[in-house]
Amino acid sequence: QLQIDDIGTLVCAVSIARRTKFDHEIEMLRKASIVSSKALIEVMNFCKPDIPESHLEAAFLFHGTLLGGKGLSFPTIAAAGHNGAHLHYTENRDVAHDGDMVLFDCGLYVDHYAGDITRTFPVNGKFSEVQKLVYNALLAAQYELIELVKPGITLYQLDEQLFAHIFNILKQIGVIDQSLPFSQEIAALFCPHSISHHIGVSVHDWSYYNGKTLIKYNPLEAFLLEPNMIISIEPGIYFNKISLQRSREDPKFKDINFDKALEYSDTVCAIRIEDDVLVTKGGHEVLTALCPKTTDEIEAIMAH
Ligand code: GLY
Ligand code: MN
Ligand code: MN
Repeated sequence: QLQIDDIGTLVCAVSIARRTKFDHEIEMLRKASIVSSKALIEVMNFCKPDIPESHLEAAFLFHGTLLGGKGLSFPTIAAAGHNGAHLHYTENRDVAHDGDMVLFDCGLYVDHYAGDITRTFPVNGKFSEVQKLVYNALLAAQYELIELVKPGITLYQLDEQLFAHIFNILKQIGVIDQSLPFSQEIAALFCPHSISHHIGVSVHDWSYYNGKTLIKYNPLEAFLLEPNMIISIEPGIYFNKISLQRSREDPKFKDINFDKALEYSDTVCAIRIEDDVLVTKGGHEVLTALCPKTTDEIEAIMAH
């Protein structure tokens, strides 16, 4: 019944259709998550001090292809040390040094459906004490954020919880005082991205339309979780030297202990932990669960 030139209505219909996956789409996304997870385990295995980031990138595509993936679902981020604090670092042109961590964000297509997973691991296979401190705090937050995933919650609510967790972590690690009231601006300085996006045939799947349409449609529905949606849960904490130095004199950041934060930019730099999560009737299922993420599990893989 559409007018041939009613692109708005068509785009809106496609946006709604893409948000919620059919069972066969879920199976393909499950496979993409599994293949991406297994290939990332191989990357951890392959990593050693002084390896070029580009070799880690190559290992992911090599193993991912052997495992049945068909091409990358987005350019791999193989970011060692400071590079992890630059969110879209895909140059992968440095060397991963002993003592640094690698933030590795990667995904493969399976049957045209995208995987999207991030793990952060120590180049030398052993987390330092300070890396463990921040990593475990972020991992605890990621577990809690995943627990919130169920029908009825919105991505806005998950974002609120993300920034509350980041703010608390900053307290735990001494970057701000325990008594400081919540500041979104402070939390966002250390986590300049949101918690989630839909995943489908695109890694950032199309789910939202805000234009003119004949369909009765509230754009905010795009942010309300329903069964059979697949989203990422990807908290991150970043100690970006450049943005910290730039923010030092800004009055809205006067309560930050910048000396402490800059220490973390040398020892920790950046951590992101990302899983692909299916919303089910009763809650959720983590599709990338087979890729380890505790410090003990990661160290065990890297010890081989
Ligand atoms: N790799 C892009 C993302 O995690 O959203
Ligand atoms: Mn990702
Ligand atoms: Mn993602």
